[in-house]
This record gives sequence, structure tokens and C-alpha cells, in this order.
Amino acid sequence: MKSATVFLSVIAFIVLILGCVPKENNTLEESSSVIEFKEKHRPQFHFTPEANWMNDPNGMFYYQGKYHLFYQYYPDSTVWGPMHWGHAESSDLVHWQHLPVALYPDTIGCIFSGGAIVDNHNTSGLGSAKSPPIIATFTHHDFKGEKAKTNDFQKQSLAYSLDGGYKWEKYEENPVISNVDKIKDFRDPKVVWHEDSKCWILALAAYDKVKFYSSPNLIDWTFISDFGIEEDHRLWECPDLFPIQVEGTDEKKWVLLVSIQKDAPNGGTATSYFIGDFDGKNFISNVNSQKWLDWGTDNYAFVTWNNLPANNNQVKGIGWMSNWQYAQTVPTEKWRSAMTLPRDLILSETSSGYILKSQPVKELQNLRTDSVIINQLEISNERLLKEFQKVTQAEMVVNVDLRKTDSDSFGIKLSNDLGENLVIEFDKTTNQMSVDRTNSNVAKFSEEFYGKVHRAPVDLSTETLELQIFIDVASVEIFVNEGELCFTGIFFPTKDFESISLFSKNGKCNISESKFYSLNSIWNTEHKTI
Ligand code: FRU
Repeated sequence: MKSATVFLSVIAFIVLILGCVPKENNTLEESSSVIEFKEKHRPQFHFTPEANWMNDPNGMFYYQGKYHLFYQYYPDSTVWGPMHWGHAESSDLVHWQHLPVALYPDTIGCIFSGGAIVDNHNTSGLGSAKSPPIIATFTHHDFKGEKAKTNDFQKQSLAYSLDGGYKWEKYEENPVISNVDKIKDFRDPKVVWHEDSKCWILALAAYDKVKFYSSPNLIDWTFISDFGIEEDHRLWECPDLFPIQVEGTDEKKWVLLVSIQKDAPNGGTATSYFIGDFDGKNFISNVNSQKWLDWGTDNYAFVTWNNLPANNNQVKGIGWMSNWQYAQTVPTEKWRSAMTLPRDLILSETSSGYILKSQPVKELQNLRTDSVIINQLEISNERLLKEFQKVTQAEMVVNVDLRKTDSDSFGIKLSNDLGENLVIEFDKTTNQMSVDRTNSNVAKFSEEFYGKVHRAPVDLSTETLELQIFIDVASVEIFVNEGELCFTGIFFPTKDFESISLFSKNGKCNISESKFYSLNSIWNTEHKTI
């Protein structure tokens, strides 16, 4: 377990010991209400739980027109505790319906992260071919065992749904993978179908590596191989193995996403990936080719949706928009944490190897309302964008002509009249992008949050720089050059930011095209709670 949560684990253990056994209530009673979601710092077009603590996205699958999203959830507090799986669904990945808690802690343990798949051919025998079962794979975490230092307190289990993902039963013979080697960190099982060997493959984080298991039926699992970096003992979590086609070709590769618990490029926790091949037994990839899916501080446990319509080689995923360094202390009151924007993953082959690009899903464009379009802008010093007022719910698409830009650096600044700001800067002298939130709140709640400026490498010697930037009250997501570089960060100004300005230092910056859109909220519509 992460060290920051040891204390919470103890509290959670006491809660369980005191007999605070969770009350299951996932009956589907429908009621309608208008959700306001107007609290301070509440994102307006990102998924958040109505109340209380949320971390990793879990068990995502698409079925009968709905994208299902489950998540690590503690319904009794705004800090981490005995984990449940919260649940929401969407028809467009943008507007979400909150649903009852799907999985509750039980006598084996509480419910840590994992995946879910649609067992279309009923290989598990838990449903029927006509009405395929949905199978969730998750880690049972036993606090008593953790306290007693048994080291085998994490085991892999199943739950299944016979109604398309709404009501869940735990599999009677859980766990299906026990922890015979007593590996303390042994969790987050996610399953994928391997067509060539006609087997299910399960990827599991086991301390500093990923272990792979295979099964014909999702119930009987055989260990087949593991993948890790020798001499590298960072804690790995939330693996996700999936095939993907290389953009513009027929070539198929396999991606292994792995979240890393420390020393991410800008501190703390982040999601990384390897590109390789998978032959049904081994994942083969150059271990030195690990790359970051996102260079920001706030995209962890990113995983993908299962069972998407197969027609256009799509891979879609979502991450938890926070970082274990400070997730439990961020200044929101009713709820804690949001998900990132849902993203399409695209594999490209470049002169420097394969890269996994992230792009915001196209459906987000339906949120665009008012727009301000300015072409051929030349910036020297600073230009306040008076034309654009709705700074806190915005999307900006900005193309910089680097051939006509002779400044040392240029960028975008959000500010309020308390002197708080967030500065996104591109430095031609160092070929770096930086995001500076150190001055985004006068009352700094954590040194780890405000301590330093975050940086990412970007080639600014090319002809153009294409930026797509989303601001949602308390977060920024930056997609550079169609998602070749992606950066997610959160911030909490005392008062919402009120203005945007463009700046250029020591010379001019030429913007050939820029569009600034206000985005609608996804919440202030009629909201059905089932
Ligand atoms: C990642 C993680 C997982 C674990 C879950 C517990 O953020 O630590 O490894 O299953 O959170 O909530």
C-alpha cells in the first residue's frame, strides 16, 4: 500500500472491526432531480461523484449503447477508506448518470481496483450465450491480514452481472487467484481477450512488475509470465494490456499501461506505457522504452474501455485526475477528485519510435457554445483576451506559427484579481513546456502541490505548434500537436480565474489561428438518479 494511506488503512481497519459492515442497497429505484453541482472548485464537464471520496477508474466496458464507468469509492468520507466500486453510465462519454454503488466490501475484504469485460460467448458459464454475463475482476483487500502482516491480504476475485452491468453478484468461490507467494502488493487485475490463442489474459500488478495469467473461462487462471525492469523497484499499479493498430497501417501492436507510484516526471504518481508484442504468453518490449502517457501531475490509473464497437480500431480510456502526493488534502469539501476527460488513444510510428497519442474524445465538441475566433494575432509582451469572458469552462484551440515567432518564450496565463494565476509557457530556448501553478492560490495547502513548476519536453524548432487546451474550473488539460504530448494538472484558486491573456517574452509570437469556446456544463440538465 502507498505509505500515505497507512494511517487511513488503520482507521479503515478500526471501522471494519467495530462492525461497521456496509449496508448493501443497490435496488434500482428511479427518481429525477436537477443536479446543481455548483460548489466551489466543482468541475463542470468532468465526471465527479456526487459526494465523498473517489480514486481510480475501474471496470469500464461498453454495452448496449452505454459506457459504464466504475470507480474506487468510499461513500462515508471525503478521504480514502474501505473501498467500494461506485458506478456511473453515459451514452456519449460526456454526460454521466450516477448509479447505485455496484460492489460493497464483504467478508473476504474490501474492493480494490480491477476491470470488467463482456463475456460474449459465456465462457464462464455464469450467464447464457443469449444474455452474456459481464464479469468484473477485482482485488479483495483484507485489512485484518494487512494489520497482521500476513502479506497475502490481496487476492483476485470475480463478480458478475446478468442484467447488463447494474446488479452484481460476487462469484461464490472467490478468490480465483490466491496469493501463494505472499506478495504484499498484488492487485488490480484487468482482463483482455487474446484472439489468436482464444484465451482470456489477465494482467496483474505485483509490486515492481506485471504478472500475466491466462484462462479459457475467466475462473481457472494459470500464471504464464511476468514483465518488469530489472533493478527498478518502483511500485507498479493498475496495469492494462490491449492490442492497437498503428495509425494509417495494418500493423498491430500491444500496449501495456502501468501506473507508477513514485518519481513521476513532475513528482508523485503517473501513468506510463510500453509498446510491444504479445504472443499469448509473453509481453515483449524493450524495457528501456517506458514512456509517460501524460506529463502532468494529475492523470493516474488511466485504463481503457472494454467491448467498444470493433469497427474503427478505437481505444478509449480515462484516468483519475489527482496524485497520491496530495489527493486526500485538496481543498474540496463535499467530494474529492474528478476523472480526466475521456480520451482516444492513437498509436503512431514516428522517426523516434512508437508513441501513444491521447486526444480528447470528439463528443466533447458538442459542449461548445459561444466562440471567439481570432486569426493572425501577433503578441509582444501581453495581450488580455477581453473578447473571451467564460474563462472557467473553456476550450482553446491555438496554432502558433513558429517560423514567424522570434521570442524566447510565449504562453497563456489565467488570472484573478487576487493576483493568483496559472501560467502555461513554451520556451524556445530550452524546448520545454511548463505549467506553473505555484502562484495559483495565496493560501497554499501543501508544499508538494505548490512546490515547483512542472515541465515537459516539446520540440519548438518545427514550423507550427498546435494546442488544444481545456480549462474546467480547477483543472487544465493540454494536448500538444494532436496529443503527441499531453499534460493534466489541477489547481484551486481562492476565487475562480477571471481572465486569460497571451504573452510573449523577448520578441514576437505569431498565432495563425485561435478559437476560444465556452463549454456547457454536463450537470445542470435534468438528471436521473436510478
Ligand atoms: C491505485 C491504487 C490501486 C488500488 C487502489 C486502492 O491508485 O493504489 O493499486 O487497487 O488504488 O484504492
